[in-house]
Formats: sequence, structure tokens, C-alpha cells
Amino acid sequence: MKNFKITALIFSVFLFAVFIFAINGAKAMTPNSAKAMKIIKAKGCLSCHTINGSGGSVGPNLSKEGLSGHSVKWLKVQIADPGKHFPGSIMPQFNLNAKRLNEVAQYLESLK
Ligand code: HEC
Repeated sequence: MKNFKITALIFSVFLFAVFIFAINGAKAMTPNSAKAMKIIKAKGCLSCHTINGSGGSVGPNLSKEGLSGHSVKWLKVQIADPGKHFPGSIMPQFNLNAKRLNEVAQYLESLK
């Protein structure tokens, strides 16, 4: 009986820890932002842009891109064909599929 109580206690503490961990994880990073950051890193955006403290300074800092007033649609065009907004831009065109393009654009728009 004593053993059972101890096991139950340890299990409750464990469940509580998982619960706290899950809440913090959800706040720190939504699944969408994790996915978007993965694409951003893989595509090399950070070689020119800083996002949340890490990255280059060739292009503007994107950490607060959501405050620029640019729509998700504008951001999609910017990523796929920067020359449309900035003729002669040194930013390369990125050929992302529609789903990934949407994820990255929505993430950038959410940065405020
Ligand atoms: C070779 C450097 C370079 C790379 C790589 C690059 N960019 Fe850029 N980006 C720029 C520059 C420079 C600008 C500023 C506009 C201009 O002069 O073309 C810019 C502008 C932008 C803007 C517009 C910011 C604003 O509000 O005016 C966004 C959004 C952006 N880049 C997103 C991205 C994303 C997402 C990636 C990766 C998929 C990326 N960039 C990769 C250089 C780069």
C-alpha cells in the first residue's frame, strides 16, 4: 500500500511537469512558427536578415516585420519575386511551394 502511494505521487508530479512543459512550449512557439523558422533557416534568409537576434544585416531586420504594414500577400510576392517591389534587388527569388510560402509569409506578418 505504501509503495502504491509513492508511485501515485511520483506519477502525479510527472503529469504536472508534462502539463507545465506543454503550456510553456505552446506559448514559446506555435507549430506554425517552428515550421516557418525551419524553412527560413534552410533557405538561407538569415544570411542577410536578422530575426529575433540572429542573422545578417545585408537586408532589413525582420524581427518586427508585422509592424511594417505589409500584408501576407505582399510578403509572398517579396519572397517569390523581390524585384517586383525593389527593382534590381540583391535579394534572390525563392521558389517555395504554395504551402511553405504561406507559412513563411504568415509567420513574418505575425512578428510584432
Ligand atoms: C542576399 C541577401 C538576401 C537574402 C538571402 C534574402 N533577402 Fe530578403 N531582402 C534583402 C534586401 C537587401 C532587402 C531590402 C529590399 C531590397 O533592397 O531589395 C530585403 C527585403 C526583404 C523583405 C521586405 C522587408 C520590408 O519590410 O521592406 C522581406 C519580407 C524579406 N526580404 C524576406 C526574406 C526572406 C523570407 C528570405 C528567405 C526566403 C530572404 N528575404 C532572403 C536581402 C536578402
